Amino acid sequence: MIREEFDFREWKGPFDAQTRARAQAALEHGRLLYFPRMPFKLTNSETEFLDGRLTDGKAKNISLDHTSGKLQGTSATGERATRLAAMIERFGAGATQFVKDLLPNYSGVERARTSYRPVEVEGRAYSVISDDRLLHVDAFPSRPMKDGRRILRFFANIAPHSPNGGGARHWEVGEDFADFASKFAPRIKPHFPGKSWLYDTLGVTRGRRSAYDEMMLSLHDGAKRDAQYQKTAPHTRLDFPPGSCWMVYTDQVLHAALKGEFALEQTFHFDVAQMGEPETAPIKVLERITGKALA
Ligand SMILES: [Fe+2]
Repeated sequence: MIREEFDFREWKGPFDAQTRARAQAALEHGRLLYFPRMPFKLTNSETEFLDGRLTDGKAKNISLDHTSGKLQGTSATGERATRLAAMIERFGAGATQFVKDLLPNYSGVERARTSYRPVEVEGRAYSVISDDRLLHVDAFPSRPMKDGRRILRFFANIAPHSPNGGGARHWEVGEDFADFASKFAPRIKPHFPGKSWLYDTLGVTRGRRSAYDEMMLSLHDGAKRDAQYQKTAPHTRLDFPPGSCWMVYTDQVLHAALKGEFALEQTFHFDVAQMGEPETAPIKVLERITGKALA
């Protein structure tokens, strides 16, 4: 099963050692952790934020940098923006506490950006590269992961329950990372020397991209641009109903978000060395495939 289910009702521990080990092993082996009965509950006044017009129309998501409190990508202003930021922060802080309780071995976990995705995914127009309805692994053009730092993401579907079973977020997940990477890695062209230095100097990236970063970006773009692969690659459909949460290594698990609105998301990063089975990390898999050190 690609989805490992947990019957939690609360966003905090303590969790017993066996449960913690089951969660960590499932994640590292490329499965999604699924929490169907652990909703992120909105207050009455927060239900006004179930509105696709909250984005500024340019960004796909509204995002919060919890270190500065800066909210980006929203049309909300003034007191309304402050209350929206408070809701996103409450979610992000809760998700962080949950990850610390459930995955205590990842002690150096870094809480990165928190996002709110209030716009219906289906039927929107995207460029191929920014179309997350296509199978891909996550790689950030402006945020290098250098020596293979992981991208772990926690999601909550906060869409209202509807009597006909609507409101679910529909995902597809693809084949095992090693199988995917073995197909695409040989096709990747070498990057011109000095590119990572240039991008860093120009401020395109925050810090220099490593060979690993370049490779992950090529895998992200390569998968999305390959219409044949998108059509014929293995797909497993997953539905996440209103009130459910899930967590996954999005740098490892091929995923596509096909339908849904009103999802909250918290991103985490940490070093490969903190993993129980570091050999399952994308950088290790890619180093085995290419026979090269990538960081
Ligand atoms: Fe993604």
